[in-house]
Amino acid sequence: MKTGKEREENRDLLLLNRRRFLSLSGILGLGLISGQTDISMASAEKEGKMTYPSKDYNRLIGMEGFSDTLLKNHFTLYQGYVVNTNKLMEGLSQLLKEGKTGIPEYGELKRRLGWEFNGMRLHEYYFENLGGKGGIQKGGKLFQKLTESFGSYEAWEKDFKATGSMRGIGWAVLYQDILSGKFINFWINEHEVGHPAGGMPILIMDVFEHAFMIDYGLKRADYIGAFFRNINWVEVEKRLLLHKG
Ligand SMILES: [Fe+2]
Repeated sequence: MKTGKEREENRDLLLLNRRRFLSLSGILGLGLISGQTDISMASAEKEGKMTYPSKDYNRLIGMEGFSDTLLKNHFTLYQGYVVNTNKLMEGLSQLLKEGKTGIPEYGELKRRLGWEFNGMRLHEYYFENLGGKGGIQKGGKLFQKLTESFGSYEAWEKDFKATGSMRGIGWAVLYQDILSGKFINFWINEHEVGHPAGGMPILIMDVFEHAFMIDYGLKRADYIGAFFRNINWVEVEKRLLLHKG
């Protein structure tokens, strides 16, 4: 069975036919197109080309229910998204400067940007909403908001877990609608597809296979249980748009 990372890489490759592959390889270097992450972050930073820095989540190592191997693999996967996001931004900027926005390569890079950028940013939200101890603060602002939106905190949790348990791989995201201030649990099938317009991500759970299979095999419910035991509710509360709802 393919791992989540392998599926992601395969998907990347399927987006490009051989002709475009060769053409784009010339523009950006083979590392990006092949999905490899061997581009040196340090050298890229030295050249001053990094738009987005890769964040360090080593504080999560040792977290109950998550092996070091799983977390380190996940960090490496995340770093690949950061590298590829920066490479895409750089490539697009270069094509813009050269007045080559009408060529197919520009369109292909633009299409890929959603996948790489969201792959980076969703992982950052995910890692940052982990590493906490203790459950949600009962009587706190988020607890109150979830109760208002779902009838009870328990109803929200049940719906969020059910969303993350759906067949398939993707993300479960608790969104706050910035216009109404209301809360809704979303299923995101692929990084760049299906997000609510104007939604603020409040809590994010990765349910791609790479997020749990090393430790849990097919027992996704056990992984979701471990995820809930480690939610950093203090961080999650900071994301609330308190002026709404
Ligand atoms: Fe992931």
